[in-house]
Amino acid sequence: MSFNLLSDDPSDVPPEGERWSSWDHATHGPTPRPDWVNPDLGAVDEDLGILRSGKEADVHLVRRWTPGRPDEPVTMAAKRFRSSEHRLFHRDAGYLEGRRVRRSRETRAMARRTDFGRELIGAQWAMAEFATLSRLWEQGLAVPYPVQLRGTEILLEFITGPDGEAAPRLAQTRPPREMLPELFEQIRAFMLTLATLGWAHGDLSPYNVLLAGASSADLVVIDWPQVVDVIGNPHGPEFLERDARTMGEWFTRRGFEVDHGELFGDLMAAATSRW
Ligand SMILES: Nc1ncnc2c1ncn2[C@@H]1O[C@H](COP(=O)(O)OP(=O)(O)OP(=O)(O)O)[C@@H](O)[C@H]1O
Ligand SMILES: [Mg+2]
Repeated sequence: MSFNLLSDDPSDVPPEGERWSSWDHATHGPTPRPDWVNPDLGAVDEDLGILRSGKEADVHLVRRWTPGRPDEPVTMAAKRFRSSEHRLFHRDAGYLEGRRVRRSRETRAMARRTDFGRELIGAQWAMAEFATLSRLWEQGLAVPYPVQLRGTEILLEFITGPDGEAAPRLAQTRPPREMLPELFEQIRAFMLTLATLGWAHGDLSPYNVLLAGASSADLVVIDWPQVVDVIGNPHGPEFLERDARTMGEWFTRRGFEVDHGELFGDLMAAATSRW
């Protein structure tokens, strides 16, 4: 049974425009949790509106705080998978097969794309992204901390830029040339660690890399629902090659020459080193 500890008191309703924190009803991210995560049952959430509307999900900003406490409210990114027009629909079938979802009312609803089925598919993708982020965060990789998972929504650490606003995507920026070798080294090291774990991002591009921090010098990689097992997936090496090419070409275009074939070779060597 779940109940709200504060609900006995009829005067104790959240202020207008807010709702009780959804923490209590959600799956929580890995521990030890960062200090800024607010697990109070008496906390409230306020939706600050949409940050960006993507192809498969909308990202909102959500502010969480505990009324009466002096701590600053915490702003998080809420990624909500839409239950229609899913970019990855063509891969759902294979993906769900891999997960061995029971042949059931649920499977049939997903196959027929009923409203309920679409909702379930959205929840599968949210679950997949949350699990991947949890694993990568535990490995110390530069990804947003996954705060919680609930249905089709994941709450993430909000990655900010110099002014505290949303961090820009690498694709929108023109970093000074002298910064490029250092930025490339960060993404290369990231991809090598990921490959050593046996994975490729699967949709890596300068649109899914954020430039975080006061001096915009720290790369954070987002958007993980489609992570690919490099060895287990028959198309794994193709995805890895595409990720390496997309990133390499961006750096080359910006004036820092990258041999993406060589990068791919190093990543394949890392991915197969465990075998
Ligand atoms: N944790 C975060 N912190 C700051 N900004 C974020 C965060 N997560 C997502 N965003 C912003 O929202 C955008 C969409 O997020 P994401 O790439 O995860 O979703 P998507 O549906 O795949 O979008 P797209 O179709 O544009 O790739 C990102 O490009 C980024 O600008
Ligand atoms: Mg994206």
